[in-house]
Amino acid sequence: MEDDLCIRSRRESGERVKHAIVSLGLLDRAKRIVLQGDFIYFPITRLPDQNEIGALSKTGEVTVELKRLPGASLPSPKSLNALLSGKVPQSALKSIPRSYDIVGDIIVIERLSSEAHEYRREIAEALLVLHRHAKTVLLKTGKVDGPYRIPLLEHLAGEDRRETVHSEYGIRLMVDLSKAYFSPRLGYERSRVASLVSDGETVVDMFAGVGPFAIMIARRHRSMVYAIDINPEAVRMMRYNLRINRLKGEVYPICNDALELSSKMQNTADRIIMNLPAQSLTFLPAARKFMKRSGGFAHVYLFSGPPPIDSAVNKFVESALPLGGFEIISSRVVKPTAPREWIVSLDVRFAPS
Ligand SMILES: C[S@@+](CC[C@H](N)C(=O)[O-])C[C@H]1O[C@@H](n2cnc3c(N)ncnc32)[C@H](O)[C@@H]1O
Repeated sequence: MEDDLCIRSRRESGERVKHAIVSLGLLDRAKRIVLQGDFIYFPITRLPDQNEIGALSKTGEVTVELKRLPGASLPSPKSLNALLSGKVPQSALKSIPRSYDIVGDIIVIERLSSEAHEYRREIAEALLVLHRHAKTVLLKTGKVDGPYRIPLLEHLAGEDRRETVHSEYGIRLMVDLSKAYFSPRLGYERSRVASLVSDGETVVDMFAGVGPFAIMIARRHRSMVYAIDINPEAVRMMRYNLRINRLKGEVYPICNDALELSSKMQNTADRIIMNLPAQSLTFLPAARKFMKRSGGFAHVYLFSGPPPIDSAVNKFVESALPLGGFEIISSRVVKPTAPREWIVSLDVRFAPS
């Protein structure tokens, strides 16, 4: 029998550790979580990288282990396959989704193969049995698109709604998935960026959505965040989210075009967040305007092909060269978005202008 790749935590920190493992997309849902003595073993699908280990360590004492976990590798009676066997042909079972997002109590399936698509309602009902806290299952039926980056969603099972409250890293976010962009897969990235901020900084979040970066930063730091979004519905939700979170810092929601605003808010920010991967590079001159003349940091997200980091760095350097001195201080693959396509984040320090 093979050993299982797993993360061990102490029982008392199990809930926090589990939350982080799920947020990082590491939990192997085809296996069982195993309790042994004072410890909990969470089966995982891959080795976490250094950043992820850093994030996990903040939630409790954890170790990554290769260990034979009695019971974990047996097909769980609650696995999706087991729930669907007899209802869905074997050939379609092979292509049922292994990964889906859970936003609050809504499950969002990214895509289904044409074979599995025919059985989408059965699959959705099984997901509701598997995740007892979930109340709704939606299927993305088109690519995230348009200026507001909102996906088309089809209701498959459970309550027919798009609104929910999602919790990540100590903040709560109300989101209506049919009216504003939100991805739970960026939870770790938002926490990582928030951990780089210092008290007293002024941050401009150019594409703030319902406010997750801004709120996570202000939750942890006495900083001032200007949170801009062009989508009035996203800004309405952000205002609500500001009321349901206790913050140390301040967030100013602004409904406007970041490009237009950059001329009026020049020389403002110590740090800029640019989470609009399809267009971030075209907004670099605007980001430079927001930034203080004394220089500062930018967190730039962009789509990239293989090899993801090198391609992203090359594209960035080409666009940023005319803007003056800069240094890329770190880079990270945030998530895959399609075959041979990823979102990459670059942390960049700009010199005084
Ligand atoms: C990929 S989403 C990121 C949202 C948020 N940062 C998050 O992590 O959930 C990009 C956001 O940029 C907004 N947007 C697009 N063009 C914009 C512009 N010119 N000015 C300001 N916001 C814009 C969209 O409405 C969308 O909410």
